[in-house]
Amino acid sequence: MSTNLSNFHVPRHALLRNKLTRIRRRDTDSATFRRVLAEIGAILCSESLRDLPEMQGAIETPVTRMDAPMLAGPEPCLVAVLRAGLGLLDGARMVLPDAPVGHLGLVRDEATLIASEYVVRLPKDLARRGALVLDPMLATGGSAVQAIHRVKQAGAKVVRFACVVAAPEGVAALQAAHPDVAILAAALDERLNEHGYIVPGLGDAGDRCFGTE
Ligand code: PRP
Ligand code: URA
Repeated sequence: MSTNLSNFHVPRHALLRNKLTRIRRRDTDSATFRRVLAEIGAILCSESLRDLPEMQGAIETPVTRMDAPMLAGPEPCLVAVLRAGLGLLDGARMVLPDAPVGHLGLVRDEATLIASEYVVRLPKDLARRGALVLDPMLATGGSAVQAIHRVKQAGAKVVRFACVVAAPEGVAALQAAHPDVAILAAALDERLNEHGYIVPGLGDAGDRCFGTE
C-alpha cells in the first residue's frame, strides 16, 4: 500500500528515532517505556505545532525593549485517547503547560477491531483553541477517526493528530474520514498483522505503558 503524503508527516529527527527504537524493544520495561513515551510526547507536540500562528509584540529584556515573536492565540487543547494517549500527555504538557486537557476513552474489540467509547471529557473552548489529539498507535485508524469526530462535534475547527507509530491502513482511513487533519507520526510502519497489530510496531502500547501485559 502506498501512502498519500498530503497532510501526513514523519519528522527527520535523530532523537525521536532513537527514543522510538528504545520503546520498540521487547526488553524495555514498563517504567522505561512510560518515561521515554513521555519524552516522545514532548517532541511530537512541539513538531505538530511548529506552524501555530505568531505575532510580534513589544517586550522588555533586562537590557532593552524589543519586538519579539509570540503566539498569536491561546495554546491549543490537548486531547488524550485513553489509555495509551496518557503516555504522551506528560511530555506534551511540558511543551504546552497552559493547554486545557481532554480525555476520550476508547477501547478496541480484539475480534472486530471496532473501537467503542467509554468516557468523554472535553474542554469547553475547543472552538477557540483547536486541538491536538494524542494516541501512540494509528493501526486500522478506527479509534483516531472516532476520536477526531468527537472533538469536531464538540466544536474544534482546527484539529491535529500526533501518533508514534502509524500503519499505512490507518493513515489512509484517517485521511479519508478527516482530510483536513494534519497527521504527524514518529514512524510509518509496514502493515497490520492478522490481529490488527502494527508490524514491526511496538506491541500493545496501553498494556506496556500501564504494566498490564
Ligand atoms: C490502542 C491504541 C489506539 C488503538 C489503535 O488502544 O492506543 O487507541 O488501539 O487501533 P486502531 O487504529 O485500530 O483503532 P486500545 O483499544 O488497545 O486501548 P488501550 O489504549 O486502553 O490499550
Ligand atoms: N494498538 C496497539 O496498542 N498496538 C498496535 O499495534 C495496534 C493497536
